Amino acid sequence: MCGIVGILGTGPVAGQIVDALKRLEYRGYDSAGIATLEAGRLTRRRAEGKLRNLETRLAAAPLEGAIGIGHTRWATHGKPSEANAHPHASEKLAVVHNGIIENFKALREELSAKGHKLETETDSEVAAFLVTDELAAGKSPIEAVAAALPRMRGAYALAYLFDGEDNLLIGARRGAPLAVGYGQGEMYLGSDALALAPFTDLIAYLEEGDWVVLTREGAVFHDATGKVVTRRKIRSPAGGLLIEKGNYRHFMAKEIHEQPEVVGHTLAHYIDMSEQRVRPFAWPVDPAKLSRITICACGTAYMAGLIGKYWIERFARLPVEIDVASEYRYREAPVDASGVTIVISQSGETADTLASLRYAKENGSKIVGIVNVPTSSISRLSDSLAPTLAGPEIGVASTKAFTCQLAVMAAIAISLGQARGTLDEASAAALVAELVAIPGLIAQALKLEPAVEAIAHSLAKARDVLYLGRGTAYPLALEGALKLKELSYIHAEGYAAGELKHGPIALIDEAMPVIVIAPRDPVFEKTVSNMQEVAARGGRIILIGDKSAAEEAAVGLAHFLAMPEMGHEFAPIVYAATVQMIAYHTAVIMGKDADQPRNLAKSVTVE
Ligand code: M6R
Repeated sequence: MCGIVGILGTGPVAGQIVDALKRLEYRGYDSAGIATLEAGRLTRRRAEGKLRNLETRLAAAPLEGAIGIGHTRWATHGKPSEANAHPHASEKLAVVHNGIIENFKALREELSAKGHKLETETDSEVAAFLVTDELAAGKSPIEAVAAALPRMRGAYALAYLFDGEDNLLIGARRGAPLAVGYGQGEMYLGSDALALAPFTDLIAYLEEGDWVVLTREGAVFHDATGKVVTRRKIRSPAGGLLIEKGNYRHFMAKEIHEQPEVVGHTLAHYIDMSEQRVRPFAWPVDPAKLSRITICACGTAYMAGLIGKYWIERFARLPVEIDVASEYRYREAPVDASGVTIVISQSGETADTLASLRYAKENGSKIVGIVNVPTSSISRLSDSLAPTLAGPEIGVASTKAFTCQLAVMAAIAISLGQARGTLDEASAAALVAELVAIPGLIAQALKLEPAVEAIAHSLAKARDVLYLGRGTAYPLALEGALKLKELSYIHAEGYAAGELKHGPIALIDEAMPVIVIAPRDPVFEKTVSNMQEVAARGGRIILIGDKSAAEEAAVGLAHFLAMPEMGHEFAPIVYAATVQMIAYHTAVIMGKDADQPRNLAKSVTVE
């Protein structure tokens, strides 16, 4: 996590650094800081909390330097405080870090024993003093960084600024992304191309283990062995303008409402709309020869994978194994060397997902990446890229990225079924017809917002909430619970409705809201039976189903959200919008920050 930026400018750079940090705030907002050279001397401004606190501090005490580094933090080691805020500094240098230096304890002891005064609770501070120690031994800044980097274990993207060196920044990456930007007499470092978009679209990415020496004249890249290497410059598609909220109160609200458009846009990439046929997907392995598929992802992207598993198994008759990436990467799972691993990620930088991708790849599997950020590490490492065209997602809670991930999973599952001969033309055509109707149905579902808001008022008083669903509505129940937890901090659980009687039914009482997601699918009646079990125990049921669902349920409902009628296969893509609105409005009513919930970050680049 954490966002880092460095600028070698031609005028004062503090304002530009703040602009870049605004674009990186999705990576963390526990504290922020900037260091520049003022008349050649290192000067820092840091503040706990969101970036606006740093802006207030800079307004009171501006920085004028033409070279600087900046950081926005998601705390891993050490509480979110000004003292632990980056840049960390010695008398000789300042550094910003994204990642975790795993051997920091041993390094801290060694450096302290040598007389260095490390003052923070962070792992990152050793990155400052390791290089300081090498400088003290008489090395130049470049030699000192080259000597220090191999001593740090774990993950890092680093940017170093040196006292008295007003034409030098040094960046390094291992396990965390870093990009170099080329401007007109200016040079930039940033965690991603989006951060640098206001200044330049000419970007080169550091590869794993690389470090780079930046001056206003250009960049010299070194690989992990220190050899000078060339890294290709590319034009980044990241938009120059900072994405705005428009008339919405939060980015999340805007992103929920963008779904008809972006899901439609994504579907149009996979479906030939004039022919109403799914375009054949470029599987990196002959689909006929596949014996199973593995899916890895985290958080909401994992929920998309769970739903995708139902579709692939049903349409392509192929077993799907799915795991959260933080487990998959370490459980030494046997990898099918002739197989395919699908990794799903909005950011394309999630550390555990990236590590799972590498594990699968090293063991011979080909990778299909379902990714929203086309320039991300996962996009670049995938053998076949299946883009989601959601556009930049700023709200920490994944909304439009999720429904676009589902749209992609649905389309490639149909394509896989056709390629394997398990879906005939007529069945595929029927599925495509259902799928292309989805954007319009989401637009209809969004009209339920006033009703959702009314329900959110009662949910805002709950201590716990249960979500139930069967079939593809089960992963959506998990997703609903995740959304509510992360945004409102209300404890919520998602359950397979059929599992209820195996334990969780003991939780049901008059105070427990139970949100039942029951699209009209082949298991609708089973879900209704489970709902009756809840009703019999006094649970407060909120039913999300089609118009006649409430009548057929024949139980007392606390609330009913009447969804549009639709085919059942892809209903979770539509029902997702309702589930997202429930979490959003509950959080807003409770006065929580829907775009930047506490303790979270948009892109989880540490494990
Ligand atoms: O960028 P990714 O899709 O890889 O992120 C995965 C999760 O961190 C993400 O979906 C997270 O669970 C969201 N905050 C959920 O809303």
